[in-house]
Formats: sequence, structure tokens, C-alpha cells
Amino acid sequence: METNNVKIQVAAGGPLLVNGTVTIVDRDGKETTKEGMTALCRCGLSANKPYCDGAHKAGNFEK
Ligand code: FES
Repeated sequence: METNNVKIQVAAGGPLLVNGTVTIVDRDGKETTKEGMTALCRCGLSANKPYCDGAHKAGNFEK
């Protein structure tokens, strides 16, 4: 049985850092496989959701 160990870290004031191989399914059902580190927006300010584009820095996101 294959195991898929994925680690998700909450970056202070920034994105969710997903480390591992994951498949992202967008709202239209399109699948994209990401390997290594993927940064997912959790501030809501990214223009490239669900990915972080660095906009949290200007938005003073502190959580
Ligand atoms: S967490 Fe980086 S743009 Fe939202």
C-alpha cells in the first residue's frame, strides 16, 4: 500500500505551507498535481486563489 505523507504548516501571518504531493481540485473540477512545497492562501487576498501570491504582506494579515 502506498502512503502519502503530507505536512501542512501554518505560516505566521501567511499561507498554509503544504509539503508533499497533493492534487488540487478547483471549483470546475480541474485537477492539478503539485509536488514539493505549495503555498495556499488563507488570508483571502490572493488574486491567484487557492494559491498564495504574497498579497497577505500588504494586507496586514496577522493570524
Ligand atoms: S496567504 Fe498569501 S496571499 Fe493570502
